[in-house]
Amino acid sequence: MAQFRFLVGVVLLLAALILDESRTCTAQVPNTAAAAVKCSRKHSAVLTEFGGVGDGVTSNTKAFKAAIDHLSTTASDGGAQLIVPPGKWLTGTFNLISHFTLFLHKDAVILGSQQASDYPILEPLPSYGVDKNFSAGRYSSLIMGTNLTDVVITGNNGTIDGQGAGWWTKYRAGELKAVRPLMIEILFSTDIQIFNLTLLNSPSWFVHPVYSSNIIIQGLTILAPVDTPNTDGIDPDSCNNTRIEDNFIVSGDDCIAIKSGFDQYGIKMGIPSEHIIIRRLTCISPDSATIALGSELSGGIKDVRAEDVTSLHTQAAIRVKTAAGRGGFVQDIFTRRFVLKTIRYVFRVNGMYKSHAEGFDPNAMTKLGSINCRDMVAENVTTAAQIETLPENNFKGICMSNTTMTLFPLLNITYNVVSGLKSNNIDCPYPEDKLPIEDVPLKTCSL
Ligand SMILES: *[C@@H]1O[C@H](CO)[C@@H](O)[C@H](O)[C@H]1NC(C)=O
Ligand SMILES: *[C@@H]1O[C@H](CO)[C@@H](O)[C@H](O)[C@H]1NC(C)=O
Ligand SMILES: *[C@@H]1O[C@H](CO)[C@@H](O)[C@H](O)[C@H]1NC(C)=O
Ligand SMILES: *[C@@H]1O[C@H](CO)[C@@H](O)[C@H](O)[C@H]1NC(C)=O
Ligand SMILES: *[C@@H]1O[C@H](CO)[C@@H](O)[C@H](O)[C@H]1NC(C)=O
Ligand SMILES: *[C@@H]1O[C@H](CO)[C@@H](O)[C@H](O)[C@H]1NC(C)=O
Ligand SMILES: *[C@@H]1O[C@H](CO)[C@@H](O)[C@H](O)[C@H]1NC(C)=O
Ligand SMILES: *[C@@H]1O[C@H](CO)[C@@H](O)[C@H](O)[C@H]1NC(C)=O
Repeated sequence: MAQFRFLVGVVLLLAALILDESRTCTAQVPNTAAAAVKCSRKHSAVLTEFGGVGDGVTSNTKAFKAAIDHLSTTASDGGAQLIVPPGKWLTGTFNLISHFTLFLHKDAVILGSQQASDYPILEPLPSYGVDKNFSAGRYSSLIMGTNLTDVVITGNNGTIDGQGAGWWTKYRAGELKAVRPLMIEILFSTDIQIFNLTLLNSPSWFVHPVYSSNIIIQGLTILAPVDTPNTDGIDPDSCNNTRIEDNFIVSGDDCIAIKSGFDQYGIKMGIPSEHIIIRRLTCISPDSATIALGSELSGGIKDVRAEDVTSLHTQAAIRVKTAAGRGGFVQDIFTRRFVLKTIRYVFRVNGMYKSHAEGFDPNAMTKLGSINCRDMVAENVTTAAQIETLPENNFKGICMSNTTMTLFPLLNITYNVVSGLKSNNIDCPYPEDKLPIEDVPLKTCSL
């Protein structure tokens, strides 16, 4: 029987989580070992063939560019792969190409340069416009791809370390004139697979597919200190048909944030994020959400399915962030089988979320409707649901069923439910149909 139940009491002990972010690198292995990687790409190159030096000090920006330029002449004929062998490969921005695999050996570490000059400044994204606080524009992301099809970034759990600490410090000190680099950004592209990697310390968001479709993001370990600014894990933004599974994320911001552009720019561009699957996610984010919708949602968010999610020490399990001026919509959101431990808000809607683009339309309201959460077990919850919306938001309601929460502290619980929560005899739906992206296999590589 469907139910919506709050149990007071019961404090559970949480197993201590020991995260080991340190890593050692073995000595360089001859290129022949790496060259034996099979990714069903006809053409192959190793970074060292193009002057790459994996000493952690020498810049490899030119080597990456030379290798990828070389491979671009043959990639359309059966595909190409670039192998990053064991070593520490310092680099600034480089751009990917179509029909291409970037493959990191398990002991390969790509290190993001800490020099701002290694990240050329770009125009703002069309669905975001100029950020008035960062009017110089935005730094290129470390690894970028634009207008591509069939791109794979993988490796036997090799590492990309954004070395973000310097950027976080400058950001906090208000010293930056442009938006910080992201780690991986893929724009206007289709058939993207990013899997089996460890991503550390991005200067800002880690993985940002935008205006793209047919995306698989799988088996990533994403780690940033939990007090770092805007280190979102995975942010599909105006993306369609996206499958995000088996990821482990510890972050200073949202583990996954689904977006679709900002205020009038996002409204004008009008590309929603839709048909998004999130499954088998583990998230730790003490100051942010496991799954956030927004705050940039001006193109709309529709048909998100999240299941088998575990969240520990996290501020909110599901959070909608919007404000008058955002426009767009959030509808057909489905979650099931969430296990939550030490959560401030299981469900949270913020209808007055801070900043705006210059010249936004204050009458552009977000339509909220059909958010369905079921089969959730939450322990050590401070507030079950906080829903803060403006009357104009046209809120169509939330469905929560078979959800059990244990609240903490035992007394003086803040429980602010304004509207939309039904309590009896409901059985919230979860779609039974399969999305096309669910049947797409990974383009795995073998050594
Ligand atoms: C329960 O949550 C509170 C914060 O709300 C935290 O201080 C406490 O350590 C948690 N208890 C357990 C057993 O995890
Ligand atoms: C991507 O394609 C658009 C439209 O075709 C073009 O204007 C733009 O220059 C391309 N960008 C890159 C980086 O290829
Ligand atoms: C991921 O990497 C591990 C080695 O670390 C390897 O055994 C496994 O096959 C890889 N998985 C995929 C899907 O490539
Ligand atoms: C990848 O490495 C991380 C960090 O060492 C580890 O926690 C994770 O289990 C590894 N993943 C795979 C698929 O081997
Ligand atoms: C998303 O892809 C589906 C096909 O899988 C298509 O019907 C739909 O129009 C696409 N949505 C957008 C916003 O492009
Ligand atoms: C700009 O900075 C101010 C002050 O730090 C902050 O309140 C505001 O939210 C920021 N605006 C944007 C668009 O980031
Ligand atoms: C209720 O949720 C629990 C925990 O997720 C699950 O095991 C159980 O099957 C659900 N019951 C129903 C009737 O769906
Ligand atoms: C709860 O509120 C009561 C009365 O206001 C107060 O005496 C008590 O100390 C509070 N308990 C906690 C845990 O904050």
